Amino acid sequence: MARKKIALIGAGNIGGTLAHLAALKGLGDIVLFDVVEGVPQGKALDLSQCGPVEGFDATITGSNDYADIAGADVIIVTAGIARKPGMSRDDLVRTNADIVKQVSLQIKQHCPNAIVLVVSNPLDVMCWVAKQVTGFPRERVIGMAGVLDTARYRSFLAEALDVSVEDIQAMVLGGHGDTMVPLISYTTVSGIPVSQLLDKAKLDKIVDRTRNGGAEIVAFLKTGSAYYAPSAAAVQMVESIALDKKRVLPCAAWLEGEYGMSGLFLGVPCKLGRSGLEKIIEVDLTREERDALAKSADAVREPMAAVKL
Ligand code: APR
Repeated sequence: MARKKIALIGAGNIGGTLAHLAALKGLGDIVLFDVVEGVPQGKALDLSQCGPVEGFDATITGSNDYADIAGADVIIVTAGIARKPGMSRDDLVRTNADIVKQVSLQIKQHCPNAIVLVVSNPLDVMCWVAKQVTGFPRERVIGMAGVLDTARYRSFLAEALDVSVEDIQAMVLGGHGDTMVPLISYTTVSGIPVSQLLDKAKLDKIVDRTRNGGAEIVAFLKTGSAYYAPSAAAVQMVESIALDKKRVLPCAAWLEGEYGMSGLFLGVPCKLGRSGLEKIIEVDLTREERDALAKSADAVREPMAAVKL
């Protein structure tokens, strides 16, 4: 069986970490692409030299030429810039939309059949840009946010309860921003509803910290944003696709009537398998959760207006 080919567009902090994790998990051969000359080549060489120690055979190559991504089965887009001082949110949206637009045109040309996972921020808007520009069906354009937001939520819950993170089942839906919607009604500890184990005040605090999880890290790092957990989250999605695991994970997906909404990407429970997004699962929500999801959708739609495709 031929190895899968995974192309990573953007060889920055997330791109490099993704390459390492994907190689460790044996998910396929990897091409790291970046517009900056030398960086993808240098990182690829360094990562390749982990192979003899870690015991992986995947080839990892770096490139500044889009022709090298041809034939990729899965492409992860992390290209973009971080918000700089003095830059408005709309300026950031426009700048990153231009970048994701250029990237998407190249994907369309070189990899018309690939599955595209978007990581660049603002996530839900960048997914929309990628889908519009590639013209790919929604099965093949998926955004990574929910797995990361849920990982943050699960880790804060495990800490508060002093139990293993492995035993926390949860899902965070909605947009990737401070309007995200952790579903308390579906949060359990080995099947035990979390509301039986933590009082409302403690849960509210954890929900709040989850919503600000990215900002909390940026405040420490000062330059740059989180990349270990975002990379781990994206790799979990790639694994489900590459190995056709059919995992049910919260991902940003293009809605066509699900949850009563259409025409935007929003975090919802998704089944990921060999064809990409295989199903959006609709679950019953409490009135409060439904309202919060609608509010989150509004927050996603607003920056879409700043983007001209
Ligand atoms: N094409 C390809 N790569 C590009 C382009 C472009 N047009 N423009 C910028 N890049 C590259 C940069 O050269 C850089 O190597 O994207 C990379 C981004 O890497 P980092 O700045 O290290 O950012 P990272 O932490 O990896 O995050 C990437 O994911 O989670 C989001 O908010 C985050 O939007 C950001 C993205």
